[in-house]
Amino acid sequence: MTRLITGDRTDDDSIARLDDPDLAKDVAAGLSAGQKTLPSKYFYDDEGSRLFEVICGLPEYYLTRAERAILERHADDIVGDLEPDARLVELGAGSATKTRLLIDALVRRQGGVVYCPIDISAQAMRVAEENVKAAFPSGVVFKGVIGEYRDALGRLSTMDQHQKLVLFLGSSIGNFTLAGATRFLAAIHDGMGPRDRLLVGLDLAKSPETLVRAYDDAQGVTAAFNKNLLVRLARELDADFDLDAFRHEARWDPVESRIEMHLVSTRRQTVHIGRLGLDVEFEEGESIHTENSYKYTPGMVARMVRESGFREERMWTDPEGRFALRLLAPA
Ligand code: AVJ
Repeated sequence: MTRLITGDRTDDDSIARLDDPDLAKDVAAGLSAGQKTLPSKYFYDDEGSRLFEVICGLPEYYLTRAERAILERHADDIVGDLEPDARLVELGAGSATKTRLLIDALVRRQGGVVYCPIDISAQAMRVAEENVKAAFPSGVVFKGVIGEYRDALGRLSTMDQHQKLVLFLGSSIGNFTLAGATRFLAAIHDGMGPRDRLLVGLDLAKSPETLVRAYDDAQGVTAAFNKNLLVRLARELDADFDLDAFRHEARWDPVESRIEMHLVSTRRQTVHIGRLGLDVEFEEGESIHTENSYKYTPGMVARMVRESGFREERMWTDPEGRFALRLLAPA
């Protein structure tokens, strides 16, 4: 149960490293399927995390700015009903730049806070630690964990008796299917005490044009982010992908209410994956489905919240109504 901090430690003992996920097994299964898929969590190697940070600043990618606008306006309100010595836990923290607005609010309110971010990328964790330590030279205790959400969940329940505000921001939940998101929220729920709260960031359904542009930007950063997955497989699994023979595509699925990212093979080809001893055949136009990004309607949220054992306490949106933060309490 407490096999949480394993593997090698980094030189800085405020950051612990968890075991790497099983890339080879997931790739073998995903590329052998009828509709080829690769799990989107593998985007976030050091280069992928860097590209994602660039995406967050793109004119078309409104999500980050919309969420930041909510936090800038409502951070004090969001932490306003917490107990005096509440702690902050963040799932998938990235570089934690938006989180600083909540840390600020907690420092204003209670003088300091223990901040426990959890992220898959060691590089992102280093940046987060630098950002937080530079912004808050004292008062904020940084306890980062490098690892997968799954491993982090158990950690929630083994922490101290302080009330926790668990953050799951950036519409990261949108990468799960609705059933998967409900299961994930239920697992967070099971790791939380009755006094703990979950703050979840959700991108909202809107015009398909706006959505497709957000995932297929003019500068091609999202295309590079998508293709970096193939670069990673080339490096880590000795795959001979020809990057020029795949193109990035963002598709809106109105039935599922999600953006899908695909890598489309521009010709008939065979890719050899050395470390798997696997030949993967592609028809012209055949794709690898690399990501889902759900865009929520009120009905989708209400159902997910209820079925995962939560009730919605508060909700905030940006002035343009593009994005929502929801504060959930165990029901
Ligand atoms: C980090 C999962 C929220 O789905 O919008 C950005 C990832 N993919 N551009 C999203 C992403 C393409 C992002 N999340």
